[in-house]
Amino acid sequence: MRLGVFDSGSGGLSVLKSIYEAKLFSDIIYYGDMARLPYGSKDKESIIQFCIEALEFFKSQKIDLLIIACNTASAHALSTLQKLASFPVIGVIESGILATQKKLPDLNSKLLVIATKATIASNEYQNRLQALGYRHISAIATPLFVPLVEENIFDGEIVQSCMHHYFKPLDFNPDGIILGCTHFPLLSQAISSYFNNQSLLIHSGEAILDYIKLHFPTLKSNHTELSFYASSDLQSLKNTARFWLNLP
Ligand code: DGL
Repeated sequence: MRLGVFDSGSGGLSVLKSIYEAKLFSDIIYYGDMARLPYGSKDKESIIQFCIEALEFFKSQKIDLLIIACNTASAHALSTLQKLASFPVIGVIESGILATQKKLPDLNSKLLVIATKATIASNEYQNRLQALGYRHISAIATPLFVPLVEENIFDGEIVQSCMHHYFKPLDFNPDGIILGCTHFPLLSQAISSYFNNQSLLIHSGEAILDYIKLHFPTLKSNHTELSFYASSDLQSLKNTARFWLNLP
């Protein structure tokens, strides 16, 4: 089975890593729209247009399933892509919500959603969590985390300053932090230790893997052929992939 994985840049590699290591697909085609990153600061219409163009690319790759490994694109363009594609298209938000429900079933849990500006503005996470009955939901846009991860900066002074900038106004310690951007799992350690390792982190990649296993229970492949494509800076995407996925 041929899987397509799409993100605005290299953040979706955090999702790819979980799926690749699970050995489910014969081929995985990753496409990063590096030329137009970040999506998180763009308006809904632009995000939808970029995603439609990415879908055209995936159609030419004859894939069987597409994962939108980008919360921003999932929040704004998933339903459009599902209408336009002849193969199933899944986003990362639904699986993230399911993982939250599974890991933090107590509706009194204090939840913090961190994501791009566009994802927070869509209210997708907040509305879905509220509909499930969660009572304590805070949401913060943390867009500076995206370029840090693109630069392979996962901790240190700049990361600490950014976290301080975004998290200082919080007057509680979250029970759960939803990493509502696929770039953020790379900052897991730093974020976790900022909150004294007291918060449970929900990561899109792990969440979507559970989701795929549930919906496609017979998938298995001994070998996975990985291919990378990008609208710009392909070599840098490949280098990051090699580093994150421990590829030879
Ligand atoms: N990886 C994208 C996400 O999950 C965010 C990066 C961007 O702003 O393009 O939302």
